[in-house]
Amino acid sequence: MKVVPYKDQKGSKKEQVADMFNNISKRYDLLNHLLSMGIDIYWRKQAVKILKKHQPELVLDIATGTGDFAIQALDAKPKKIIGVDISEGMLAVGKEKIKKAGLEDKIELRMGDSEKLLFEDNKFDAVIVSFGVRNFENLEKGLSDMFRVLKPGGKLIVIEFSKPKVFPMKQLYNFYFKNILPLIGKIISKDQSAYTYLPESVNAFPDGEKFTGILDKIGYKETLCKPLTFGICSIYTGSK
Ligand SMILES: C[S@@+](CC[C@H](N)C(=O)[O-])C[C@H]1O[C@@H](n2cnc3c(N)ncnc32)[C@H](O)[C@@H]1O
Repeated sequence: MKVVPYKDQKGSKKEQVADMFNNISKRYDLLNHLLSMGIDIYWRKQAVKILKKHQPELVLDIATGTGDFAIQALDAKPKKIIGVDISEGMLAVGKEKIKKAGLEDKIELRMGDSEKLLFEDNKFDAVIVSFGVRNFENLEKGLSDMFRVLKPGGKLIVIEFSKPKVFPMKQLYNFYFKNILPLIGKIISKDQSAYTYLPESVNAFPDGEKFTGILDKIGYKETLCKPLTFGICSIYTGSK
């Protein structure tokens, strides 16, 4: 069964996800850093270390949201990063942040759907996604279109929540994710469902070897999963 943010509404998962991120866009950055206790910045940093090794010139940041991964990815010294997202609200916050930081010549944010990317084949040296793939309506379609726009030899880097498997982290994480996080999320974001959808979508997501299996099936080579912080989060990599 598909996990959607608003179970009592009729729209597709994609429409509901866009609505949800539009609703929480103004509080997203604050909640992100608060609920993860800042570890999200460290996780993206680890992914950027991998990106750096590939010295990419042109990078596509899928589900860029408010642009945090795109901004951190500038450490890899690309000529340009294009970020795409389906939420107008998230992009508006991101564009403002990029303007304030004087990064408009380096990062360009646009509306764009991972499943119908408006770019030609073999365009990007690297495609990156942080905390985005779990929200796709059709995961395989999104990952296939990302494969299409990657240059041969290009690198895919995905960061996504995963489920810790070892005692006592598994139990602590489950308690925090199911009880504390939705409560704080609801109070601060004022969205009834967004932070209930978060643990539910993580639970339904094919993490670890299941995800690298999907990447293999699509055609990515040298796929790897690197768990971080007791497996709360994983970095997945692959090449075209
Ligand atoms: C949890 S946020 C992550 C934002 C950012 N990457 C970060 O690390 O903070 C997930 C984002 O995925 C976007 N998204 C979901 N489905 C998408 C799709 N099919 N194509 C593009 N963006 C999508 C949402 O609108 C949202 O901004």
